[in-house]
Amino acid sequence: MILVTGGAGYIGSHTVVELLQAGREVVVIDNLCNGSQEAVRRVERITGKVVPLVEGDIRDRHALDAVFAEHAIEAVIHFAGLKAVGESVAKPLAYYDNNVNGTLVLCEAMAAAGVHRLIFSSSATVYGSEAPVPYLESMPRGSTSNPYGTSKAMVEKVLEDLAAADERWSMALLRYFNPIGAHPSGLIGEDPQGIPNNLMPFIAQVAVGRRDELAIFGNDYPTADGTCERDYLHVVDLAVGHLKALKALEAPGVSVYNLGTGQGISVLEMVKSFTRVTGVEVPYRFGARRPGDLPAFWADAAKAERELGWSTERSLDDMMADTWRWQSANPKGYAG
Ligand code: NAD
Ligand code: WQD
Repeated sequence: MILVTGGAGYIGSHTVVELLQAGREVVVIDNLCNGSQEAVRRVERITGKVVPLVEGDIRDRHALDAVFAEHAIEAVIHFAGLKAVGESVAKPLAYYDNNVNGTLVLCEAMAAAGVHRLIFSSSATVYGSEAPVPYLESMPRGSTSNPYGTSKAMVEKVLEDLAAADERWSMALLRYFNPIGAHPSGLIGEDPQGIPNNLMPFIAQVAVGRRDELAIFGNDYPTADGTCERDYLHVVDLAVGHLKALKALEAPGVSVYNLGTGQGISVLEMVKSFTRVTGVEVPYRFGARRPGDLPAFWADAAKAERELGWSTERSLDDMMADTWRWQSANPKGYAG
């Protein structure tokens, strides 16, 4: 049985689908601060399996102890946390509490229950603002520019120290680049609360008529078309990466993997691809740069391919088509 923290959220729900379809048993703990019960119900619809959902907080040791007492957990995939960069600048304590303290409580509960296999959702943001592209796992963590990024870098360090102190721990730190897209069923996808911070859900909400136009944050970057470049990967490919990492969790210690395609795509290319694939126009205007944005970064994803046998299989067109299938069938997300 695998414990998935944050399994009612975007990446977690897609990963639970892949786990169940691969024959794994899953229990989810989620406090539903940014996830929904409906997402878990839809995972059950896709897979035809029952997903136990514990509505609880990973900072609540008693809730965790009860989950470990009730289920024979072999490993934990840890998605639970807060992820909005701008909000983290305004509410740093909430981010350090959820992301850092939450992980400490989780690790304590795991150790008490004799569970030492952990997969952690890290981020490309830990490379910091000075790293040359493409990012390689052997590069040092850099200086992060917001509390969200700092919380991810801190947790990575905590986990490394923990694994160094006790060789029973086996951990994978997965550094995601920019996950987008949705399950091809159209039943689950990204459902941000309020105004989306991220590009893909913003494009999708403009396309479905929830927002008037996209503001492209800067067109004077030193890139081919002046807009920023990112490494967008399909969320189902990312989910599959967790299964591969889980299979590889045998040796003691910490392994770090970039999960990306290895290719940068510009904001303008994203808008154009969306329209080409879906036939839906996305009105846009160029606006000011967003503070803290880097011009361009992408992964060197060779290590995950070499050691995990993982590489992305879904194309940019798949990402666009699947995003649109989800958004057009669920214009208001899980709310209707
Ligand atoms: P999400 O917000 O959709 O999912 C996170 C889930 O965790 C939500 O369902 C939320 O309700 C739950 N949660 C938050 N705090 C909790 C707590 N204290 N106790 C229990 N549950 C809690 O986000 P996501 O996009 O699915 O991201 C999953 C993980 O991957 C996060 O840790 C995020 O930082 C990381 N990550 C995401 C991206 C991205 O672009 N989406 C990129 C890199 C890393
Ligand atoms: C992509 C590009 C924007 C919205 C963030 C976090 C990162 C990671 C993923 C978790 C950028 C541009 C966006 C809009 C735009 N999360 N954009 N108009 O910034 O690469 O990464 O989310 O770890 O830590 O920083 O992704 O989707 O926000 O932006 O022009 O309305 O789209 O400027 O160039 P980003 P994003």
